[in-house]
Amino acid sequence: MLKHIQNSAEFIKNKINSSATAIDSVAQIGVILGTGLGGLIKDLTVLCEIPYSEIPGFPVSTVESHQGKLLFAEYHGKKIIVMQGRFHYYEGYSMQQIAFPVRVMKQLGVQRLFVSNASGGVNPGFAIGDLMIIRDHINFFHSNPLIGKNDPELGPRFPDMSEPYDKQLISQALQIAAANKIKVQTGVYLGLSGPAFETPAEYKMVRILGADAVGMSTVPEIIAARHLGLSCFAISIITDLGIENKIVKITLEDVIKEAAIAEPKLSLIIKELIRCSD
Ligand code: HPA
Repeated sequence: MLKHIQNSAEFIKNKINSSATAIDSVAQIGVILGTGLGGLIKDLTVLCEIPYSEIPGFPVSTVESHQGKLLFAEYHGKKIIVMQGRFHYYEGYSMQQIAFPVRVMKQLGVQRLFVSNASGGVNPGFAIGDLMIIRDHINFFHSNPLIGKNDPELGPRFPDMSEPYDKQLISQALQIAAANKIKVQTGVYLGLSGPAFETPAEYKMVRILGADAVGMSTVPEIIAARHLGLSCFAISIITDLGIENKIVKITLEDVIKEAAIAEPKLSLIIKELIRCSD
């Protein structure tokens, strides 16, 4: 496993080093962009772009809204690896495949991981278009990327999960939001497999279990990242509501549309977190 991760990382490093503009292939920050949330890219200086299909060991994205590219970029002097498009469990990828790019990022020097996603709000205080900083999660995938033989070179057999989302990054993000008059919620994200959206009874269950929002990503990536010792920050756009009497039919198009509307606010917070990163 470690060999495959190192092979991928080597390939990426060579690509970056051979691109005319890049000087040094070490990135401090990793970013995973969710559904309809690619807008962040336009404010970064992209130094190198590699389609997932070219990277040895990388799975290939199958969802139309996900472009499937790894970007090496710069923002205010900070080097960033961006996953433009992620791998979902519902696409048939294994938990290990979903974890793979996160492990490659660590090999490339990444210390902090910023993740975005779209989710359904189940907290009655939430509205469509709200941003929710994820302060904790519930893994409802009934699987885990760390199942199987553990490589102690990656991380411990039983990693601590007492602070899955870095409290300092959360407090920094809250300050950024306040300074820019951006309304943000904080809450618990419950991750499940999908791909069917939830029934009304399932949304109710998600709420009873203690979550504020539900979605089909993020949790496996964060578990893999915490195993590696990365500091994590994740933020969600509430694109629809799983709240009694507010539940309406939803489609992927609705999710993408609502995500795109709120995206500039989310990107601002992530950009500022990158800029202020030490
Ligand atoms: N449920 C699960 N995943 C989602 C939702 C939802 O309501 N909205 C966006 N992603």
